[in-house]
Amino acid sequence: MTKRKPRVLATRHFPPAVEARLAANFDAVLNPEDRLYDGPALIKATEGCAGIMCAAGDPLNAETMAGLPASVRIIATFSVGYEHVDVGAAAKRNIAVSNTPDVLTDATADIALLCMLGAARRAHEGTTMLRTHNWVGWEPTQLMGTHVTGKRLGILGMGRIGQAVADRARAFRMTIHYSNRTRLPPGLEKGATFHANADDMLRHCDFLSINAPMTPATRKWVNAERIAKLPKGAIVVNTARGGVVDDEALIAALNSGHLAAAGIDVFDGEPKIHQGYYGLQNAFLLPHMGSATTETRNAMGFKALDNLEAFLLKGELPPDLVKAS
Ligand code: DGY
Repeated sequence: MTKRKPRVLATRHFPPAVEARLAANFDAVLNPEDRLYDGPALIKATEGCAGIMCAAGDPLNAETMAGLPASVRIIATFSVGYEHVDVGAAAKRNIAVSNTPDVLTDATADIALLCMLGAARRAHEGTTMLRTHNWVGWEPTQLMGTHVTGKRLGILGMGRIGQAVADRARAFRMTIHYSNRTRLPPGLEKGATFHANADDMLRHCDFLSINAPMTPATRKWVNAERIAKLPKGAIVVNTARGGVVDDEALIAALNSGHLAAAGIDVFDGEPKIHQGYYGLQNAFLLPHMGSATTETRNAMGFKALDNLEAFLLKGELPPDLVKAS
């Protein structure tokens, strides 16, 4: 008699190659219409499931976790960030949680540089001028932005993605400052200046790149008080999580001119972003697409599957197990 494959719920419509492997190895419950599950619907959909393959934004909070059927043993998120999963509540239910580190480092760092350059070089205004037929031709004073090469870059959160941003910025001969929970060894620091207190770094930042995860300690970390510590004309880049920024404060500083520009890929409460962003000409905005390359999204899916397969098919610990802090 053939053994029944464990049932796994895919909360979102994942890339075809990922869903094909999920369906080959599991009794997969797919979501081809990419409907968004709220908590109660998620609980209902997981009936009989041993695993859940979820994504950023899914409501795997304490309330949902408490209602999940006893059959659920693992939640593999298709993301490196896992603030949408209450890991502590999962631990109480004996549910393992895994994420997808490493594979999206380069794609996300690339988008950080796009945001940095897009903000500094007024890409939003330029493309708008052109596409609205308002470009009158080259002018000596047209769309003069901020030079990137040779400037000082402060990185909040020097994990894998922060380090990859620093590597790219070095190609622009930028001077790197960073703040992190722990100082990096010299081989990884590569001459960057460490600030044990992130507040002390701010006055050194012509550019501030946010690469820290969303935690209670980083929630709205970039607030009015800290923005005031940045030099006038500084540029803020956020490719981590929107919640790390106090939107009101950032928008006010972009309106007042204290900040020259911002490049933002992630928003608090996305996709319902703060209305104030829409009117800002000096904000280069992207819809959370840091990891959006075919190669990266496939790699994220395969990593989530590696975790599900290790745990549910081989009886091993998921290689990317996330621990409750
Ligand atoms: C991640 O993996 O955390 C990205 O932001 C996509 O959700």
